[in-house]
Amino acid sequence: MTDTLIIAPSILAADFSRIGDDVKAVDTAGADWIHLDVMDGHFVPNLTFGPPLIKALRPLSQKTFDTHLMVSNPDLLLAEYATAGSDIITVHAEACQHLDRTLSHIRELGCKAGVSLNPHTPIDGLQHVLDRLDLILVMTVNPGFGGQSFIDTMLDKIAAVKAMIGDRPIIIEADGGITANNAAKVFAAGARALVAGSAVFKGTSYAENITAIRAAAAS
Ligand code: DX5
Ligand code: ZN
Repeated sequence: MTDTLIIAPSILAADFSRIGDDVKAVDTAGADWIHLDVMDGHFVPNLTFGPPLIKALRPLSQKTFDTHLMVSNPDLLLAEYATAGSDIITVHAEACQHLDRTLSHIRELGCKAGVSLNPHTPIDGLQHVLDRLDLILVMTVNPGFGGQSFIDTMLDKIAAVKAMIGDRPIIIEADGGITANNAAKVFAAGARALVAGSAVFKGTSYAENITAIRAAAAS
């Protein structure tokens, strides 16, 4: 398992009236990745943005663009998400009829391939595509909205994913409800990429918020 701690602010919680400034601000504040939540109003009730916005943000940061597709038909626009500047493209297992093919396609496009699991989705099945995977995103809230509470039972799931991947160079990412108060147990369970929206884009100092999550995870 890859062991470096990664803090990935989700711009879902940014100020959409000045989203470019917020991307630059979290980059400067110490974000490792920029997490981009794409929602289609179908796989999840909410709607956010697509490739044009990602493309517009791309020149503003050199950080890894971590694109999380909460969409029903991810295959339709994979090339556009890659061309827009995504470094990682994560699809939901629940949305993929042919997950093996989708993951291979993402890698062929030159991106790292991720799979996300909703809270109720078992990890069984992923064992057959581990050689196609760079990242497993464990949803720690039900996808669709920021600002929800972390689901504690997902800690066992993260630990089960960790046991399943063994020595493979696969990053475990946890997404939803992550704060400085729970980052330590999320990290201890095995997650190494921590997505945080509300806990980063609050108050007056994004740097302090990121530092607090990082310090808590490392403690
Ligand atoms: C949920 C998204 C998340 C989430 C993070 O559907 O995938 O990235 O909004 O935001 P917080 O940290 O506010 O839960
Ligand atoms: Zn996300």
